[in-house]
Amino acid sequence: MSRPLPIAVLLSGGGSNLQSIIDHIEKGLLNACIKLVVSNDPLAKGLERARKHAIPSRVISPLEYASRERHDAAIVEQLQKTGAEAVCLAGYMRLIGKAFVHSFPNRILNIHPSLLPAFPGLDAQQQAADAGVSFSGATVHFVDEELDHGPIIIQGAVPAYPGEGREPLARRILALEHRIYPQALQWLAADRMRVDEHGLARLLPDEPRSALRLDQPACLVNPPLETGF
Ligand code: GAR
Repeated sequence: MSRPLPIAVLLSGGGSNLQSIIDHIEKGLLNACIKLVVSNDPLAKGLERARKHAIPSRVISPLEYASRERHDAAIVEQLQKTGAEAVCLAGYMRLIGKAFVHSFPNRILNIHPSLLPAFPGLDAQQQAADAGVSFSGATVHFVDEELDHGPIIIQGAVPAYPGEGREPLARRILALEHRIYPQALQWLAADRMRVDEHGLARLLPDEPRSALRLDQPACLVNPPLETGF
């Protein structure tokens, strides 16, 4: 196996996606090594998860910097010191600026709890519930300078049911996030992700001469079709 991909994880809250990344690494499914966890919030629970697994962590609070650019620059400096080659935003609830994005070109990933480009921004689960969609889901994408935007690596859909409200939908989406983020990272670790000339993410087959299997049934209809349709 090739050398584990050195990554950093940025978060602001509970860190369940961080936990899922750790678990996939520990199970040998994800060939990566977390060099640093950074939180903008000293109270983020994700910091405890890092400590439990002896992963170095730092709080870099925006309150200590005069501008977003300086705060970003302090984070980038720390990330570069640790040798991280990719950055995972895992519930990092701040927009990152141009200089940060360009410090790790096509090496910053984000997970967002909707089928982007639908429902970017805060509380995507509530936005989806309010819109009465039949499906929502989660997206892992490369990060560009816009909020919750950039080449899409993987998406997963879950059904949404009328009147159920935010919480059951959010739980379904989060469970899916915990599966698709490690998968996207493993593709990056295996050097199988490219961004093509149209700015779209492309997954390369795992062997140079094989083709990607895209023939699995992947159709979801909600509410379900009745017999005969
Ligand atoms: C996740 O649902 C993630 O998709 C979302 O924050 C939550 C973090 O949960 N991110 C965004 O909304 C980014 N725009 P976690 O701290 O338990 O991983």
